[in-house]
Amino acid sequence: MAINVCLAGATGWAGSELARAMANVADLALVAGVSRTHAGGSLGEVVGAPRLACPVYASVAEALAAHRCDVFVEYTKPDVAKSNILTALAHGAHVVVGTSGLADDDYAEIDVVARERNRAVLAVGNFALTVVLMQKFAEAAARLIPQWEIIDYAHDDKVDAPSGTARELAARLSRVRRPEPTVPMDQTVGHRDARGATVSSSQIHSVRLPGYVISAEIVFGMPDQRLTIRHDSGSSARPYVDGALLAIRRVSTLVGVHRGLDAVLDFEK
Ligand SMILES: NC(=O)c1ccc[n+]([C@@H]2O[C@H](COP(=O)([O-])OP(=O)(O)OC[C@H]3O[C@@H](n4cnc5c(N)ncnc54)[C@H](OP(=O)(O)O)[C@@H]3O)[C@@H](O)[C@H]2O)c1
Repeated sequence: MAINVCLAGATGWAGSELARAMANVADLALVAGVSRTHAGGSLGEVVGAPRLACPVYASVAEALAAHRCDVFVEYTKPDVAKSNILTALAHGAHVVVGTSGLADDDYAEIDVVARERNRAVLAVGNFALTVVLMQKFAEAAARLIPQWEIIDYAHDDKVDAPSGTARELAARLSRVRRPEPTVPMDQTVGHRDARGATVSSSQIHSVRLPGYVISAEIVFGMPDQRLTIRHDSGSSARPYVDGALLAIRRVSTLVGVHRGLDAVLDFEK
């Protein structure tokens, strides 16, 4: 039996790539899309995937009133994401969240609702498998090396800093240990800002220049040796598809809020 999916943000940069991929897999049925601009239309026509027989609705409430769905995918904007997630839980769906920008407090609130309803919410800041591996490798390195700094590179018109990927990396490393800089930040002589922003105890330096797409680099330093782990994204949304499909397939094995794709990846095998 196919898993019935409702995709909010189905016409966006990331959502449309996921919708096109779902047109080609037999075990997932995309039964409803959400987009205000294309409401009333056919998603297949909008995203250029004629095999998708899937209507588009203006809101999540309308889409879920019209279709029974097992998994709801949230891929819109931070300002509407939380209410979309709560609406989906109220309709009995498990939820996969790709939208960035929700705070820890939001997820704590969502977790209570999800557990009350015996449903799962899997929130993944970056679905790319190579990013998940960078996170895992960095966590392993942080167990052994107490000093690191993160550099986040992006195109010149990216307005937010640091990137979601850099933030998530810092948050994960803070659960391993706090870095131990030789000179504490508040003892910097000269310009403190030159040492970057302190986020979840890590120093992050954000570079915004033409010529970059999105990259994240973490440098671990030890006396007379250095380890650099770096991730580079291309310009398409293709890298996020496989991880999102995996999350949709496995979210129902969980209960409550889980953060990160590794919640459904088995790294021991
Ligand atoms: N987790 C990951 O790996 C990953 C990867 C890529 C992007 N993202 C995140 O995913 C989110 C979407 O990114 P994107 O680049 O795809 O954005 P985008 O191209 O602007 O697409 C946004 C989509 O959401 C819909 N939308 C926006 N506001 C809405 C509302 N109020 N009600 C219903 N639909 C609404 C838009 O359609 P209408 O405007 O027609 O309503 C559109 O379909 C962002 O938060 C981004 O950071 C995460």
